[in-house]
Amino acid sequence: MITAIPQPAFYIFKCQQSAPPGMPKPSCVSQNNPESVEIFQHLAQSLMQKGIMGTVQPIQSSCLNRCQQGPVMLVEPGHTMYTALTKEKVNRIIDEHIIGGSVVTEYVIADEMWGEPVSPASMAR
Ligand code: FES
Repeated sequence: MITAIPQPAFYIFKCQQSAPPGMPKPSCVSQNNPESVEIFQHLAQSLMQKGIMGTVQPIQSSCLNRCQQGPVMLVEPGHTMYTALTKEKVNRIIDEHIIGGSVVTEYVIADEMWGEPVSPASMAR
């Protein structure tokens, strides 16, 4: 019997967009916030240490269009956008959401910044 290669249980898209030092526009990776530079590596290392790398796939993404709320990352499935990340918050998200199955609601983007999606079928020309 052939066993299929399993799909990842989660993809985590961490915004890695940076702006040059001194740029007024906020960005998720910024020299003005030294911890922001280390969050992706911290995420990847934590997944490895916990033995869940692979079934959880961390992805370095470009801008996710919520720059004011950065550093941000999006967890799929679930379409869960986490904001104002620190390493400490990433630890809790891995333990409680990714492993524990409960979204860490206090770190989730505010509803007014994350309204219901618009169906592409309703917009397509
Ligand atoms: S720079 Fe990260 S959401 Fe735009």
